[in-house]
Amino acid sequence: MVAMNENTNGPTVALVTGANKGIGYEIAAGLGALGWQVGVGARDGQRREEAVRTLRARGVDAFAVPLDVTDDDSATAAAELLAERFGRLDVLVNNAAVTGGMPQAPTGVDPAQVRLVVETNVLGVIRVTNAVLPLLRRSAAPRIVNMSSGVGSLALQSDPDAFTGPTSAAYAPSKTFLNAVTVQYAKELTGTGVLVNLACPGYCDTDLNGHRGTRTPAQGAVIAVRLATLPADGPTGQFFNEDGPLPW
Ligand SMILES: NC(=O)c1ccc[n+]([C@@H]2O[C@H](COP(=O)([O-])OP(=O)(O)OC[C@H]3O[C@@H](n4cnc5c(N)ncnc54)[C@H](OP(=O)(O)O)[C@@H]3O)[C@@H](O)[C@H]2O)c1
Repeated sequence: MVAMNENTNGPTVALVTGANKGIGYEIAAGLGALGWQVGVGARDGQRREEAVRTLRARGVDAFAVPLDVTDDDSATAAAELLAERFGRLDVLVNNAAVTGGMPQAPTGVDPAQVRLVVETNVLGVIRVTNAVLPLLRRSAAPRIVNMSSGVGSLALQSDPDAFTGPTSAAYAPSKTFLNAVTVQYAKELTGTGVLVNLACPGYCDTDLNGHRGTRTPAQGAVIAVRLATLPADGPTGQFFNEDGPLPW
C-alpha cells in the first residue's frame, strides 16, 4: 500500500469522528501532517475546541465539527458544515466508539448497554457515512476508514490462544457487526471510486480501556492514516492492522 492522495482540487479534506482524544486525535494529527485540512468531529464543545487548539499548535490545519454520532440532526449539520465550507469531503474516518462499560458478559448484560454500544459503534457509522456520502462522491479519491478491532474478529474470538479482551456481549459484537456492514458498503460502492476499509489500531493506551493498552495512540493511528491514503487500485472491504490483513 502506497501512501498517496490523488486529489488535485485543493487540499484534501478529512473528517475524523471522536477526534478530541485518544486514537482519533492522533489520526487527525497524522492526516494533518500530510498537509490536509482536518475536521475534528466531537460532541462536547469544550473538548472539541481544546483539541482543535492543540492540533493547530502542532501545525495541523484543524477545524471544529460539532458531531454526536448517535444523533441524526447532528450528522446532517456536520455534512452541511462541510458542504458549505468545502463543497466536498475526501476522507471520512469513523473512529468514535464506546465500550458501554464492563462487565458485559452475555448472561448478565443489560440490553440498554448493548443498545448504546450498537447505536454508537454501528448505527453511528452508518448515520455519519450516509450523511456525508454525497460529499465523498464529489472527491477525486474518496476513502472511508472504519475503526474496528481485532476483538470483532470471530476467527480470533474463537481461537483460545488469541487475546481478545474480556467476555463482551456489546463491544466486541458491535465491531463484528461493523465489519459486516463495512463489507456491504464496499460491495455497494464497487466501481464508484470510494474505498472503504476497516482498521484495527492494536491495544492502545487510551480512556477506552482505562489506559491498560500497551501501544501509544499515535501507533494506533498509523493503520488508519495508511488506509486513508490508499491509491485508486487499493483494497476495499478489507480488514487490516499495521502488519497486514486480519482474519474475519
Ligand atoms: N484503545 C484501544 O486499544 C482500541 C483497540 C481496538 C480498537 N479501538 C477503536 O479505536 C477507536 C478509538 O478508540 P480510543 O481508544 O481512542 O477511545 P477513546 O479514547 O475512548 O475515544 C473515543 C472517542 O469517541 C468519542 N465518542 C464516543 N461516543 C461518541 C458520540 N456519540 N459522538 C461523538 N463522539 C463520540 C469520544 O468522545 P468523548 O470524549 O465526548 O467521550 C472520544 O473522542 C474506537 O473505534 C475503538 O473501538 C481502540
